[in-house]
Amino acid sequence: MATKSTTTTLESDLKPLAPVDLAAERAALGPALEEKILAVLQSGQYILGPEVEKLERDMAALHGVPYGVGVANGTDALVIALRASGVNPGDHVVTSPFTFFASAGSIAWMGAVPRFADVELETALLSPKLAEKAIDSKTTAILPVHLYGQMVDMKAFRALCDAKKLALIEDAAQSHGAKRDGVSCGQLGDATAFSFYPTKNLGACGEGGMVITPKKAVFERARRIREHGSPVRYTHAEIGTNSRLQAFQGAALNVKLPHLAAWTARRVQIAARFDAAFRGTQSVIPLTTVKGADHVYHQYTVRVVDVPRDEVVERLKEKKIFVGVHYPSPVHLQEAARPWGYGPGDFPNSERLAREVLCLPVHPFLSDADVDRIAENVIAMARGGAGTRA
Ligand SMILES: Cc1ncc(COP(=O)(O)O)c(C=O)c1O
Repeated sequence: MATKSTTTTLESDLKPLAPVDLAAERAALGPALEEKILAVLQSGQYILGPEVEKLERDMAALHGVPYGVGVANGTDALVIALRASGVNPGDHVVTSPFTFFASAGSIAWMGAVPRFADVELETALLSPKLAEKAIDSKTTAILPVHLYGQMVDMKAFRALCDAKKLALIEDAAQSHGAKRDGVSCGQLGDATAFSFYPTKNLGACGEGGMVITPKKAVFERARRIREHGSPVRYTHAEIGTNSRLQAFQGAALNVKLPHLAAWTARRVQIAARFDAAFRGTQSVIPLTTVKGADHVYHQYTVRVVDVPRDEVVERLKEKKIFVGVHYPSPVHLQEAARPWGYGPGDFPNSERLAREVLCLPVHPFLSDADVDRIAENVIAMARGGAGTRA
């Protein structure tokens, strides 16, 4: 009994380590966030307006394109990006089955049909070669996902879409500021969707999203779709929706955006520390960061291959280390995906990743000691060991 109570006391003293630390982020911003939010309240301009316009300019500039359209959330950004790029109901759109449901759900919600191609096991990213095989006579677009903050091979996807005359829509919900082979997300796609969900690398104080595009025609269409297809008040050129970004969210994001580069640099440092810690460990296999990728580490993801993943998650919880599982089921095996006609075994890499992935805390407010504590415990538990106390 005595031993047990001593252990309990010590473990209850452990600092909890979680996937995000929004309190630390707020503290790092000082009073700027509250001041800006108050200024919006006093201005009476609650929807769109100068804060959203500034954010649209700065997000577009950050990614090297001329146009941004602030919308209500990342899911709407995908729907509007698809519609504005000319995808119509009934069209087939090729995407990844290993992603958040919204990537495929947005395709179906606008009336098109998701068609899946498997991801690469090493990166969890949609393979251009497999995507090409999934193209059929009804395909009008490909929607790859820059999962966990690492871009897919956009040069290959652009070449494929040019050859097949398809639209290319990027799901960049997890990849603010990411690059690959010197090209930013958003530069090669016809339209690119971001989410500003609060836990994203750039997160609002609520819901938010944005479409960016290098193309004027796509920009103009996206702008009008977010306001019921209305280029001029009370004139409706097509069916759209109400998906305007709120000024409070624009203001909050304008306070945070100047910090994004430093926050990303810290994520990259933490990822390098994890890489070093896991080198030579057979039971913990970090996903590969490809040569030429500026990965922004929305998630730092490993595969655990010797001990059941969910057991590792539970045992880490006992050490106050809270990890994510993105995602425990691939999209094609969800009940809602049944009408699309897929089943178990269709996408073996996605199904395996869903069983094995573990996303470790990698937010910029972790200390090196926090990172070491996470790494040591993950290594020990992935081998079936007891972990460390501190
Ligand atoms: C890959 C991916 N796509 C789309 C979305 C949808 O974004 P939102 O939650 O802002 O609608 C998310 C975020 O949750 C995501 O991670």
